Amino acid sequence: MKPVLISGIQPTGKLHIGNYLGSLQNFVELQNSGKYECYFFIADLHSLTENFDPKEKPDQIMDVALDYLAAGLDPKKSVIFQQSEIPAHSELQMLLSNITPFGELRRMTQFKDKSESQPENANVGLFNYPVLMAADILLYDAKFVPVGEDQLQHLELTRTLARKFNLKFGKIFLEPQPILTEAKRIMSLDDPTKKMSKSRPAGCLFLDDDEKTIKEKIKRAVTDSGHEIKYNPEDKPAISNLIIIYSNFSGITIKQTEKKFENKGYGDFKKDISEEIIKNLSSFQIRKKKLIKNKTAVKKIIISGNKRAGLAATKKIEDIKIKLGLTID
Ligand code: AMP
Ligand code: TRP
Repeated sequence: MKPVLISGIQPTGKLHIGNYLGSLQNFVELQNSGKYECYFFIADLHSLTENFDPKEKPDQIMDVALDYLAAGLDPKKSVIFQQSEIPAHSELQMLLSNITPFGELRRMTQFKDKSESQPENANVGLFNYPVLMAADILLYDAKFVPVGEDQLQHLELTRTLARKFNLKFGKIFLEPQPILTEAKRIMSLDDPTKKMSKSRPAGCLFLDDDEKTIKEKIKRAVTDSGHEIKYNPEDKPAISNLIIIYSNFSGITIKQTEKKFENKGYGDFKKDISEEIIKNLSSFQIRKKKLIKNKTAVKKIIISGNKRAGLAATKKIEDIKIKLGLTID
């Protein structure tokens, strides 16, 4: 049997090219490698830990499903599902809570950052977020988890909890390993010292942006002093970020990008970046538009994914309950 691989994205708003290059594109490559039994889900329960409007949530959930499919995730090759539809995720979160040290959760960088950014809503869900993530992973016996750097701390906790449970109650969980995408941290177009993030839309290039918007945003993107197209994240953070974006979308290396634009200025470089992004995103956007016209089919794909994930999860949770002594004969 192939090893299980799992990952999820929170439905919290439109995805940007950082999400695409940092995770989505990687999901598709991993799926197509044929080496794994893949599960990709919409982490809607996780998204409830941040401020949100319930009226917007269904569209946000659907949007992640559309992005998954338009990017190339294929229900014939991967199980694509919605987290909140599988009660076992919440159940396992509860069960794992009992072996999770309070102090470990308090140390989590994401918890500290997010509870500071929404002090009026520093809720327990946010605190318990990493335990839900551990449940997502351990429920499917996942061996591999593609995530960004920012999630490594959560994955380490997942490994700790798996080990602890196995020792205390008998072996039942696998210790998952991260799959990191190399150096694909895309920075904001308006401030290369900050990560491109949905929470700062001004610096984002969204996957749904049209040709005109892409051109305008790249044209307006900040640059560094000087005129050379040279990769040097310390002295030239803005140009280095643009080089990374270009190199990822065009499929050539950073060195080759530097060579290609050796005698060119920022203006020419930016024109080519826009073209490359437009070329790449257009097939994504065409597929997404088609899918939007057929949301019933998309819903069916999710329902069928939920069924498949549900079967695996229910079986696992039963085995876990036996280990915990919760099952009477
Ligand atoms: P988020 O939108 O922050 O929930 O992120 C969803 C996924 O996209 C995570 O796996 C992140 O690591 C990845 N991601 C988000 N922002 C960026 C970025 N600026 N550069 C690279 N990857 C990113
Ligand atoms: N926390 C992840 C993020 O913000 C999303 C996520 C939730 C996830 N559960 C997961 C990723 C399980 C991998 C595996 O990016």
